[in-house]
Parts: sequence; C-alpha cells; structure tokens
Amino acid sequence: MMGESQMSSLGPRLSAFKVALFLLLPNNIVWSWLLTAQERRELLEANLHGNDERPDFTPEAYQKGNSFDSDADRRKHMDGKWILRFLETYNPDSVLECGPGSGFHTRSIVEYPSVRWYAGCEVNRSFVEFLRSRLDALSPDKLLSAQVFLGDVKEIEVAPVQAVIFSSSLHHMPDRADIFSQLLSLVRQNGYICCVEPTHYLSRWRHLWRKVIMRGYVQDKVRGKTPLSTHHFCTWYEFRGLERLSQGKLRIIEVEYDGYRGLLVPRILGKLSRLLGLGWPSWLRNSFPVRLFSSRMMIVFQRI
Ligand SMILES: C[S@@+](CC[C@H](N)C(=O)[O-])C[C@H]1O[C@@H](n2cnc3c(N)ncnc32)[C@H](O)[C@@H]1O
Repeated sequence: MMGESQMSSLGPRLSAFKVALFLLLPNNIVWSWLLTAQERRELLEANLHGNDERPDFTPEAYQKGNSFDSDADRRKHMDGKWILRFLETYNPDSVLECGPGSGFHTRSIVEYPSVRWYAGCEVNRSFVEFLRSRLDALSPDKLLSAQVFLGDVKEIEVAPVQAVIFSSSLHHMPDRADIFSQLLSLVRQNGYICCVEPTHYLSRWRHLWRKVIMRGYVQDKVRGKTPLSTHHFCTWYEFRGLERLSQGKLRIIEVEYDGYRGLLVPRILGKLSRLLGLGWPSWLRNSFPVRLFSSRMMIVFQRI
C-alpha cells in the first residue's frame, strides 16, 4: 500500500477516460467539473513537489539557461516583445510579477525606467533565492523596493500595484477564477493585468499528440506512476469568463495572437491595412482562424 506522502507526490490516479478528458478539455471545465475535491488537492500537492524536485527546475537549467542573467535580446522572444510593449504603452510604476521563474522577463521589468516598485511571487524556492540575489545586486537608485515572495499567487498580500504580469505562468495555475478575484484587491483602480500565455487551439492538439505518442505517457498517468501536470493552456473564452465573473471590475482592453505570422491571408491583409495607415484591424487580430493557428496570446485587462 502506498504511504500518505508517496500518494501526494504522485497525484491522483485517474481512469484512462478521465486522463484523456483532463488533457483535452480547457482548464476551467477540468477544475470545476471533471476532478473531485480530493483529486484537485492531490494534484496541486504533486505539482508543488514536482516544482521542487524536477532537475530542470533549477535557475541554471531552466528555459535552456534563459534566466535573469541572460543577455539574449528579449525583443526577439515573442513574450519578451509583448511584455516590453505592455511596459511602453502603460508605463507602470509598480509591478507584481506572478511566477517569474528564473527571471528572464523580470530583468526587462525591473530595468524599465518607469518601474520603481517590483514584487514577484513564485512557488519554487530555488527560483526565489536566485532572483532575490539578483535583485539585491541592483542599484538602489533604480528601484525603491524589490521583493520576491515564496508562495502561491492566491495567497500573496502586497500593497496594490499598477500592473500585474503573468508570462507563461497562469497556464500552470489551475484555480484562475480564485486568482483573478484575489487580484481585484491587488491592482489599483485603472491598473492593468497583462497575461502572455500559450493558447488552447491547434497548437494544444499538436502538443498533446507529441506527448501522447511518447511511449508510456498515458499509461504512466493512468497507473499513477507520474503526476499529471497542472498545465492547461488559456483560451479566449476562459478570459471572457473571468471578465464576466469580475462583475464589471475588469475589462479586456487588448488582445493579440501570434497566429497571423504563419497565415498568408492575415499577413497580407495586415500589411495592406498598415500601408493604408489603419493599423491592425481588431476583427482580424482576434478572428477565429488567427486564434486557431496561434500558439501564444497576450491579453490586457484594466481594473475599473
Ligand atoms: C513556465 S514558468 C515561466 C517562468 C517565467 N515567467 C518565464 O516566462 O520564463 C512558470 C512559473 O510559474 C511558477 N508557478 C506555478 N504555479 C504558481 C503559483 N500558484 N504561484 C506562483 N508561482 C507559480 C512556476 O514555479 C514557474 O516558475
């Protein structure tokens, strides 16, 4: 028989059917309908263990070494480009970064001229220690305050900030409705929440296909040999649902997908409309075909 601690580090055991549904359905349906309360608890616990134990979850090995220390051009990275555009558009003075990891984008944030207060919230202890040492070494003239908290975003308590940023981290967090309701008290009025995340469209199927054909992947999950991850890519409808749940306190003010880059017709239309000085028409940026072929999206909410 399995002991308590062994059970929790492996997460819940689910039937093959439930594992398939877990992998295919969007996050909000999985966490509100598919899993029992006990399964949710076990999965979250296994995720925490996984974060601390995975060999690639060390600051040096993570994201192929793309950490705070990396001199790579952030603008050449889709997320980096969007985050810099967000900073340039809204010039926040205070930022809360949720799940900064090894801090590749943290560096863009703390070095951005308007930012004077920075707080990070991260569940992985080694990332927290790594980031604290990097932030301590920054010039005190640049930042009035920089803190990194160890823990879950849902439990963080900081003075309200002007901007909250998630970069590839919200899709690791299953309880997004709870997180967004907590954020309402952490973002100042007229402040912003910016999420730069993988999407749930064709790329999700491609990703699953690659995973599922790997020998033993599903069997391992069914036998409970390896934990299910909490990864669930974000969808437009889920973000719309979060906006509705806020009862008028959050409004989506920007949405952008990377899908147009691979599609000839949207690219030509986009180029033409820019040539005519019209910019990117919003119906095109957010159209279904563009979403379908996207692997990443950026969305900005404003706190009303
Ligand atoms: C894919 S990484 C992204 C890291 C970084 N933002 C980047 O773009 O390189 C996701 C990060 O979110 C953190 N994370 C996951 N769940 C979290 C939670 N509930 N609260 C805080 N951090 C969390 C993970 O430990 C990990 O560092």
